[in-house]
Amino acid sequence: MIDGLLRRIADFHRSRPVVPEFPMLAPVLDALDHARGPAGIKARILPVVRHLDAVEPSGDAYIDAVLEEFLRLAPVLPWRQTVGYLDVLSQDYLDNYGYVQLLGPNAVVEHPAVRVGIGLWGPHLHYPAHKHEAEELYHVLAGEPSFGSIDGIRRATRPGDAVHHTPWQVHSQDFGATPTVLLYCWTGAVEADAVLVDAP
Ligand SMILES: [Fe+2]
Repeated sequence: MIDGLLRRIADFHRSRPVVPEFPMLAPVLDALDHARGPAGIKARILPVVRHLDAVEPSGDAYIDAVLEEFLRLAPVLPWRQTVGYLDVLSQDYLDNYGYVQLLGPNAVVEHPAVRVGIGLWGPHLHYPAHKHEAEELYHVLAGEPSFGSIDGIRRATRPGDAVHHTPWQVHSQDFGATPTVLLYCWTGAVEADAVLVDAP
């Protein structure tokens, strides 16, 4: 059921220019190529999915192929939130955020060493500074999020842009006026979730 989505994600990554700084994509592509989704998936819907109606195509064929399949499958996917955030982030944040872990530990397709998923955030949310041991590569599929680092530098992004975080690199996000869809990959220490740097 999700094999088509995994294939489109692999095609998307292969459509990007090769970036020597991102060798982590090799194990990610290997995992995507070999993943086989289960026949049935237990859906779990979160309030954030209401924003999917306002997700706009980007005009990039590879991005839009992923978005189209993700939007089609969204109602039957297991949406989730980072467990450690549930007691600390505001109800407004929790009502406007969620992700689907397609590949990884306890994901739709089990994988011990790679995480691949897609997250959705509603307009104007602030994702406070957080960190994780895994190396991370985000690609913006929709929206105009701005990424912050601990030195105060902010980087505005748009669909197609890649944002890379080294292990334990502190980062934050501010989401724009339209819903943000981010494709993420993790490699390395993928077992542990992200943790907030300070309680908001
Ligand atoms: Fe991250």
